[in-house]
Amino acid sequence: MSQIKKCLFPAAGYGTRFLPATKAMPKEMLPIVTKPLIQYGVEEAMQAGITEMAIVTGRGKRALEDHFDISFELEHQIQGSDKEEMLSETRRIMDQCSFSYTRQVEMKGLGHAILVGRRLIGLEPFAVILADDYCITEGESVLSQMVKLYQKYQCSIVAIEEVPRNETLKYGVIEGDIESENVYRISNMVEKPTPEQAPSNLAIIGRYILTPDIFKIIENTPPGKNGEMQITDALLTQAKAGGVIGYRFQGQRFDCGSVAGYIDATNYTYQQQND
Ligand code: G1P
Repeated sequence: MSQIKKCLFPAAGYGTRFLPATKAMPKEMLPIVTKPLIQYGVEEAMQAGITEMAIVTGRGKRALEDHFDISFELEHQIQGSDKEEMLSETRRIMDQCSFSYTRQVEMKGLGHAILVGRRLIGLEPFAVILADDYCITEGESVLSQMVKLYQKYQCSIVAIEEVPRNETLKYGVIEGDIESENVYRISNMVEKPTPEQAPSNLAIIGRYILTPDIFKIIENTPPGKNGEMQITDALLTQAKAGGVIGYRFQGQRFDCGSVAGYIDATNYTYQQQND
């Protein structure tokens, strides 16, 4: 049975909703309290047994690479002080994981970003985390839950959650038949439909497990919503062949791609840490 060993992080987007903060800093480096979003994503992947991180970056994103690297001066400076502890998690990640990077030169959509990651992934099933969907669980991480499900279904899986009808325009939305509790066999999916066009209120959130045939399918899928290459459209091709599962995960998601969601996530996490 194929294992999921790699996780792809599309991280080339500009994060314009956070300007001016994101003028010279990647949005994935925005901290929830003291830890950047990308690190939460990497930790989630590690909890799912994944150690090979593949990051699709772009211009102005070098801080991402520096974050998962040694900072000699700084580390020398805080050596032996109580501050050293604050970097221990990051060091553990660096010891246990490998990081590879590639650049998305043009922004042509999430499907395109994933396609750009192809050479880092190769011919194996892989996970995708959109770091600005920040997920909190009490037990297993969302991706761990999905990796378990993959062992059973051996096909692409998308994380889904119910959203208010008037918000379907922000998401890929699915339609499907219930297979078992929280598990749907997807028959249709639409990228950012109006509430009237939406086939349900079950929205895709930024956690995917994809089988490698997706790359060829993305290549052969015409541009969709907003003229961009949409992963939702490519997944629809797999779904029509019966091969996509929607999973209503256990846990809570914050949309840290929006300022309000980011503030909620920050407040929630700060509260948790201080309780
Ligand atoms: C992307 C996907 C969309 C999905 C969303 C989850 O949209 O295209 O299908 O529902 O991520 O966060 P974006 O938020 O990048 O516009």
